[in-house]
Amino acid sequence: MNWFWSLYAIVYDFGVWQFTPYWDQLSEIVDLVVARTMVGDWVCDFGCGTGNYMRLLFLRNRNVVGIDPCSAADRVVWDKMRAAGYPRMIYCGRFDVIVAVNSLYACDRLSEELKSSHEELNDDGFMVISNPIRWPGAVEMLLWYRNRYGWGGLLRALPGLIALAPFNLVIRLVYRPIPEEKLVAALRAAGFRIVNRDLGYICDANVILVCEKDPT
Ligand SMILES: C[S@@+](CC[C@H](N)C(=O)[O-])C[C@H]1O[C@@H](n2cnc3c(N)ncnc32)[C@H](O)[C@@H]1O
Repeated sequence: MNWFWSLYAIVYDFGVWQFTPYWDQLSEIVDLVVARTMVGDWVCDFGCGTGNYMRLLFLRNRNVVGIDPCSAADRVVWDKMRAAGYPRMIYCGRFDVIVAVNSLYACDRLSEELKSSHEELNDDGFMVISNPIRWPGAVEMLLWYRNRYGWGGLLRALPGLIALAPFNLVIRLVYRPIPEEKLVAALRAAGFRIVNRDLGYICDANVILVCEKDPT
């Protein structure tokens, strides 16, 4: 599916440009990471896509590394990060934080990915996850958007939503949301404990978890 994610990366930033829930979630998660870390701490963005989380975390003085299997995203990320003053660097070490926003559902081997994340984190590190637990329906989503952001907000978001619609359709056909119980069980099996849990993003269809390494 790398070809698919590469095509997605080409339209992604246009698609989310006026999509307010995306930017709301981004600033909430970045604020959360910044509040729990110090300047210079290392953050890994797992499934970084076009690097929007990386860019903001870098601008908030965190060191960032992005992981994504798709090469088109790589080019977009580098252009974006270079413009923000990001130096090309090599990092060999463990992370203080791993952020995984809307990317875990795309992993074939969830348990293995979470175990690797556990190993790549410092002992006092933590992980922030936002992942769909269900796919909201199109009408439900449009009504929710209109109620929350008004007709003006919906009209502004519409061109991007239309551009992303074929991609989101493929995502829904190919991938399954991860039921919360399954995600929590996989996190526990990988050695994490959940320290915060919320619902959010579009129609509250995402579970947002903060997990620490379980010392027991
Ligand atoms: C919906 S995008 C989210 C991008 C970014 N996290 C954001 O919120 O802006 C999903 C991303 O997951 C990436 N992805 C797909 N399979 C993956 C895998 N096995 N491991 C890590 N990332 C993956 C895709 O390439 C894509 O960039």
